[in-house]
Amino acid sequence: MENMTPTSNLLSSLFFFTLIPLFSRNSIADYTLKQGQSINDTQSIVSAAEIFELGFFSQPQATNLKYLAIWYKGVTPKTVVWVANRDTPVLSSSATLNFKRDGNLVLMNQTGAAFWSSNSTKSIQNPIAQLLDTGNLVLRDSKSEDYVWQSFDYPTDTLLPGMKIGWDSKTGLNRKLTSWTSSIDVSSGEFSFSLNTNGLPQFFVHKGNKTMFRGWPWFDHDFGQSYGNGFNYDLVFDASTEISFSYNDSAHSRTRIVMDSSGSILRHEWNDVGEKWRKAYSFDGAGCNDYDLCGNFGLCNPAVTTSCGCLYGFEQISTKNLSNGCVRRDPKICEAGDGFMKISKVKWPDSTGDSVNMKLGVKDCEAECLKDCGCLAYGTVQIPKIGLACVNWFHKLVDIRYVPDVGSGDDIYVRVAASELEAADEKRSVAVVVAVPIVSVMVFLGLIGGWIFIRRRARGNHEVLIVPPIQEHELEIPIGVLEAATENFSVFNKIGEGGFGSVYKGKLPNGQEIAVKKLAETSGQGLQEFKNEVLFISQLQHRNLVKLLGFCIHNEQILLIYEYLPNKSLDCFIFDDQRRSSLTWPRRIDIIIGIARGLLYLHRDSRLRIIHRDLKAANILLDNEMKPKISDFGMARMFREDQTETKTRRVVGTYEV
Ligand SMILES: *[C@@H]1O[C@H](CO)[C@@H](O)[C@H](O)[C@H]1NC(C)=O
Ligand SMILES: *[C@@H]1O[C@H](CO)[C@@H](O)[C@H](O)[C@H]1NC(C)=O
Ligand SMILES: *[C@@H]1O[C@H](CO)[C@@H](O)[C@H](O)[C@H]1NC(C)=O
Ligand SMILES: *[C@@H]1O[C@H](CO)[C@@H](O)[C@H](O)[C@H]1NC(C)=O
Ligand SMILES: *[C@@H]1O[C@H](CO)[C@@H](O)[C@H](O)[C@H]1NC(C)=O
Ligand SMILES: *[C@@H]1O[C@H](CO)[C@@H](O)[C@H](O)[C@H]1NC(C)=O
Repeated sequence: MENMTPTSNLLSSLFFFTLIPLFSRNSIADYTLKQGQSINDTQSIVSAAEIFELGFFSQPQATNLKYLAIWYKGVTPKTVVWVANRDTPVLSSSATLNFKRDGNLVLMNQTGAAFWSSNSTKSIQNPIAQLLDTGNLVLRDSKSEDYVWQSFDYPTDTLLPGMKIGWDSKTGLNRKLTSWTSSIDVSSGEFSFSLNTNGLPQFFVHKGNKTMFRGWPWFDHDFGQSYGNGFNYDLVFDASTEISFSYNDSAHSRTRIVMDSSGSILRHEWNDVGEKWRKAYSFDGAGCNDYDLCGNFGLCNPAVTTSCGCLYGFEQISTKNLSNGCVRRDPKICEAGDGFMKISKVKWPDSTGDSVNMKLGVKDCEAECLKDCGCLAYGTVQIPKIGLACVNWFHKLVDIRYVPDVGSGDDIYVRVAASELEAADEKRSVAVVVAVPIVSVMVFLGLIGGWIFIRRRARGNHEVLIVPPIQEHELEIPIGVLEAATENFSVFNKIGEGGFGSVYKGKLPNGQEIAVKKLAETSGQGLQEFKNEVLFISQLQHRNLVKLLGFCIHNEQILLIYEYLPNKSLDCFIFDDQRRSSLTWPRRIDIIIGIARGLLYLHRDSRLRIIHRDLKAANILLDNEMKPKISDFGMARMFREDQTETKTRRVVGTYEV
């Protein structure tokens, strides 16, 4: 079905004016189909600049099933971006696309049975269908510029630049992406990616009718961060006319966002030089991103192994199953003296339907919540061009997570009984007294992992206990677990010998792959001091830093447990003739930018300022997408300079306060 007579852009635009339908052997080199014309399953229509192609396609496994589809012209493997009849394939030796009498497009088999139709309710006098260079198949009257139907309104699994998901009052459509059933089956699969239009605007990934993931309630939030240069997006939030998301990308000739059949959201960019797709972004949930992982009134903290905790003033219903959620320690709500605890740096709870009420122009959001006994929490948000809005939650508070990254997260004020407010005040003074000698540095640096105390506001507004601090024991991993994971530190699992000791690959019972670093020297400092350092380091989280998952102390031997990265270190690529060729220039630039981001975080944005001082290719590990992660950045803190006489002769890093 390839176009055998490629036509230049100039020529194809000329054809548009000559209005002569040009039939080549296999394809119509014009991008327009007019009344009386049709294409059969050996023909196709190509967009003016030859970017997209509309035609029929079949999966290799089921060649008798024919689908009308749009794909990128000239891209192999064939990348289908839209399918008209994904759930009603034409089971026939031949199929045609032509016009019905009312002007709609219709897909038929050779005996005239219809399998799909563009089903616009308007009838069209002189219909023309055009495949635009955006990948949009549009149907309009030849005398009018208005589309009566467009394929962009009926997405399959792919969101192209300029296409919108979300709701529009003009068409009444709520457009969403629906995955394929499998990578080889285009029929509607289980996963969908949609915008919630009832309540605050949020993205959702559903599997069937089950919510898998909920995005950040956005207004002007930068909800994603893994976007490169040239990527622009447009969020429209106007409850009476349109709630939508769209994007474009000036840096890449082709780009697409896909809800894939395994439940991940992927963004692919086309690499013009390598002529292949590159995965630019992928999101698949897991951990605290799992919807409602911790139940009602739960608070998910990604920094600890047992992620589920409770909001302040609540306790777990069951310690066996943390997903059951939490209940109030003191249920006396809506009595004199109850008030609010501020919880900072969180993703707001699910804000769907009647669980949320948003009011504009409310000056005193706290009073607004207080006057309704059913109001569980409140928060405020600045909506661009509209103003400050007061949001009240009712019925339940689910899917709240703590967001450790610098500069992200919102505040929410959760209603608690009077006794909890008193207890918080007491605890505050106790906590400060107890905490100061042990973790004075922590308080001094304003570490978020610990209790944080903010200036008291007027009107008895209570401040804050954020997240339970990470406990040392949550990071300590028993030696037995590590022995099992690494098969007793078998030589077969040894993946490296670094300056600080040997590194082994291991697999935890839950399937997570880890790298265990067995330190050659014991730390020069006291054990407690060492543990404190591990606690600090484990809280540094950035996508360009290797994550420290835990530690183990066994017979004076210290082991550090890190996330496992399959692609080894950068030097293995740079100094290897074969592998070097896989480092294309765009990839090198991505790696350089990633390293710079990691360093910026260490130097400027993290709570501890760390200077690595031993940054070299061997300390840059690569994940399975070749994203760089800096390793060994915490060593400087764990081993005091003067006490380290490691085999490395390295000048160890240090930190400044
Ligand atoms: C498709 O249409 C072309 C041009 O009209 C024709 O030559 C060809 O035989 C048709 N193929 C089938 C399978 O009908
Ligand atoms: C066309 O489709 C109809 C409805 O599915 C079916 O009854 C008919 O046999 C098909 N014609 C051919 C030639 O396959
Ligand atoms: C038009 O077709 C779409 C599927 O392509 C379907 O969901 C919708 O209900 C149809 N509308 C009408 C008015 O038939
Ligand atoms: C969700 O789907 C399952 C199976 O399809 C069904 O049994 C269940 O009732 C549905 N739940 C709701 C809330 O619609
Ligand atoms: C891309 O998006 C930006 C922001 O939404 C918009 O200003 C710009 O006009 C868009 N460019 C194209 C080519 O659509
Ligand atoms: C834990 O509780 C949740 C929600 O109540 C339930 O869906 C899940 O099956 C439970 N898990 C176990 C292991 O009992």
